[in-house]
Amino acid sequence: MNFEILKNDFEEGILTVTINREKALNALNRQTMLEIRYLFEVYAPDLEGLKGVILTGAGTKAFVAGADIKEFTNLNAKTGAVFSKNGQDIYFLIENFPKPVIAAVNGYALGGGCELAMACHMRIAGEKARFGQPEVNLGIIAGYGGTQRLTQLVGKGKSMELNLTGDMIGAEEAYRIGLANHLVAQGEEVAKAKEIINKIGKKAPLAVAKAIDCINAHFNEGKAAYKKEYEHFGALIETEDTKEGVAAFIEKRTANFKGI
Ligand code: COA
Repeated sequence: MNFEILKNDFEEGILTVTINREKALNALNRQTMLEIRYLFEVYAPDLEGLKGVILTGAGTKAFVAGADIKEFTNLNAKTGAVFSKNGQDIYFLIENFPKPVIAAVNGYALGGGCELAMACHMRIAGEKARFGQPEVNLGIIAGYGGTQRLTQLVGKGKSMELNLTGDMIGAEEAYRIGLANHLVAQGEEVAKAKEIINKIGKKAPLAVAKAIDCINAHFNEGKAAYKKEYEHFGALIETEDTKEGVAAFIEKRTANFKGI
């Protein structure tokens, strides 16, 4: 697939993906969603030496201002549900990606854009970032997981408030309530995300992947997540990387992990 909307830059093991529809505030039209699916299903998993992925928006105004509202006019009850489920499926690919995926939120993250940021493993907010689920203003609700992931991240009360009022919150409040992991000067979002991915890139890759899997399982599999945790723990303890990590600790040196 040729990327028409996404601009991808793969450098030193980090794939930085810019959603590039600046005139439409990077709203997610059909083509953008197809490209995001392909990116996480095929393109990124194939990249040799990939340490992690950063998602950001083109320009200085928006991360992503939502699903493309202009494509809503032809939807009916049946195609609307398919549209919503398709978005959810794509966002699960991001949530379940085995390497860190970080949203560098450089402006408006609204509706499907807020949901996209929440499907990522972490969010870095620039000072001008604005988050919200304004779907109630259109007569609909969040459809790409926003009622669920916002509740997971900020708790029921704040999620109710944001989903029911459609209000936007600024970067400082997003940071205060735990929606954003870090608050940085405007323009520094990608740099901060790179710093975190580079730090994680020095850890054992299999352990990182299993930690992501277990944390997601807490929300999607309930109590079974504890079983998953001890099973993954057991599998990891036999790996070459665990031998290396333990030996490095005892020998007082830095571990050199190989992902095996
Ligand atoms: N879908 C499609 N187009 C969108 C869009 C979206 N979600 N968000 C913004 N755009 C387009 C606007 O239609 C406008 O296009 P035009 O120049 O062809 O008219 C362009 O992006 C710039 O947006 P504009 O509204 O003029 O900018 P603003 O600074 O006045 O307002 C926002 C910015 C983000 C507050 C406003 O665009 C907005 O409310 N967008 C919709 C947010 C939303 O409801 N998202 C959830 C969708 S489910």
